[in-house]
Amino acid sequence: MNPTVQHLVPLLVALHTGACADPATSVAGRSDDELVADLLARIADDHTWDQPPAWEGTPWITAGSPHGTWVDIRVHPIGADVLGRDPMPYGTVLTKTQLDAPDAPSGVVNAMWKLRGLDRDDGAWFWAQWVDDRLETAGPAVHECLGCHRSGADFIRSAVDAPGVPPA
Ligand code: HEC
Repeated sequence: MNPTVQHLVPLLVALHTGACADPATSVAGRSDDELVADLLARIADDHTWDQPPAWEGTPWITAGSPHGTWVDIRVHPIGADVLGRDPMPYGTVLTKTQLDAPDAPSGVVNAMWKLRGLDRDDGAWFWAQWVDDRLETAGPAVHECLGCHRSGADFIRSAVDAPGVPPA
């Protein structure tokens, strides 16, 4: 290969990867802020997504809180049919909307989005939490979220955890 061309190969590979990366399944060179904006747009219709089988018939008392916050958990169609598989497919998004009571959203919304280009040891999930529409935390490898989620199959808790109590 001619040395000039050889020099250009890494650049061309990088351009090609960036250009071809699917924004639904890959970081695709975006900043955390850009990923948050995209994630927020993607979860706008999450109420139309499936619920994990054990959690159907929303909402349920959370299994993870001693204080009994109600939760509505949804999984994007990319991951719905294979929920519980480890690893889950890239592009899977899960949301957990917290409620003070079955018909009273508390204002806390959590989301996790599986993306190519993130550290696989930390599950390759991008995490975000909003409180009253304000971004509270976001990023890959958010320790606060990973601490509990590491115990789930590919970091997902509701695929294995049963709800705390049935809906009223
Ligand atoms: C105290 C432990 C704990 C912490 C900390 C925690 N989670 Fe969870 N999370 C759970 C449990 C348990 C579930 C299963 C549903 C339930 O019982 O609420 C869950 C469910 C979820 C779900 C639905 C998908 C799934 O895994 O079942 C999302 C999305 C989620 N959490 C996001 C987050 C985000 C984002 C953070 C960090 C800001 C976070 N969680 C921090 C325990 C935790």
